[in-house]
Amino acid sequence: MVDADELRDLAEEIAREAGELARRRRDEGVRIADTKSALADIVTDADREVEALIRARLRDARPGDGFLGEESGAERGSTDVTWVVDPIDGTVNYAYGIPHYAVSIAAVTGEPGPEHWRAEAGVVFTPVTGELFGGARGSGAWLAGRRLAVSEATDAGALVATGFGYDPATHAGDLERVRAVMPLARDLRRAGAASLDLAYVAAGRLDGYFERGLHPWDHAAGALLVVEAGGRVGGAPGGRPGALMTIAAGPDVYAALDAAIYH
Ligand code: IPD
Repeated sequence: MVDADELRDLAEEIAREAGELARRRRDEGVRIADTKSALADIVTDADREVEALIRARLRDARPGDGFLGEESGAERGSTDVTWVVDPIDGTVNYAYGIPHYAVSIAAVTGEPGPEHWRAEAGVVFTPVTGELFGGARGSGAWLAGRRLAVSEATDAGALVATGFGYDPATHAGDLERVRAVMPLARDLRRAGAASLDLAYVAAGRLDGYFERGLHPWDHAAGALLVVEAGGRVGGAPGGRPGALMTIAAGPDVYAALDAAIYH
């Protein structure tokens, strides 16, 4: 039996340490170490160092667990738990000196793919503001001792966030979806860190969020927060959140976003 609260507590402790390291490295100056899927898709030395720290801390605390990280790949474990980690979500913000970035750590059980796993715990920590969004399955989503709840739809329209993939070939489709969603939006945000977009939906700071092309580590922790805050997270019609589509919101805004995107 997995103790989801225990997994969350461990994730919180490690996320705080990792976030402080990211912030320190940012203050010292950032070096782009490589590009990945596209020229715009960068990795910094700090991404790699922070992921190595998280991986080492998890290995010390729970040596048998699996790991799936943005920078260092996947490793199957001998327990049912896999840690899904984005060391610095919002890397482009980070590289440009925009403080909106986060460490995202989730613990999942079952097959370690978003179509199959069960999210047990999720933490999104943004070191510049010091805000830590944390949750465990069945125990709610929390920020600074306050239980989070998604917003309810209002007549003013929804404050909706989205993101655009790094591959320029996908931008026409991204913009087409923005056009379809705008009639139900009071305004649109593109802040640059998917884990925080989801955490903000959980906190009621955004009414909804959608994005195509996410990786598992972008949404694993944030999606759990939304569900624990009473919201809904899904993907393409009938599917789970993932690369094809991720939609997150309270139930009414979710239905409206889904209808607008898949009209
Ligand atoms: C990216 C951010 C961004 C989203 C991209 C992600 P990264 O993650 O979350 O908001 O639009 O799809 O890949 O590369 O900064 O870890």
